[in-house]
Amino acid sequence: MNSETIERLIDSALKARENSYAPYSGFRVGAALLGESGRVYTGVNVENSSYPAGICAEQAAICKAVSEGEHRFKAIVIAGGEESAGAESLKQFCYPCGICRQVLSEHCNDDFKVIAAKSVTEYQCHDLSSLLPFSFRL
Ligand code: THU
Repeated sequence: MNSETIERLIDSALKARENSYAPYSGFRVGAALLGESGRVYTGVNVENSSYPAGICAEQAAICKAVSEGEHRFKAIVIAGGEESAGAESLKQFCYPCGICRQVLSEHCNDDFKVIAAKSVTEYQCHDLSSLLPFSFRL
């Protein structure tokens, strides 16, 4: 995956993050998921006053993509932190939670890239298989 594609995905995740609905945690997350078709699907965390009903940004992006007919993916960028919406640079790398790792593994090969980004120039890239080794599959 070239750096231009990664930068484009990071930009999309940071922009999407502005729509995060996180009034309870104040932790805003944006995700940008690259489909095998080349389409990009964004997602944000959407919290709920009944806390377990909230969903993560990665799951929102997967649901959006699958709803539109795309099932296989190449990469996801995650940008999350407590900074206000519109921040161009975050203080921390946000990695997918355990449930999101499992959700991603359903639709992705072992070389799927998980990219945690603070800004368009500061990011860390890992294969999903290193974040979720020996994953469960039926
Ligand atoms: N969150 C995500 O959106 N993705 C993750 O992988 C980690 C956590 C959200 C859930 C919740 O709305 C907030 O971050 C704080 O946990």
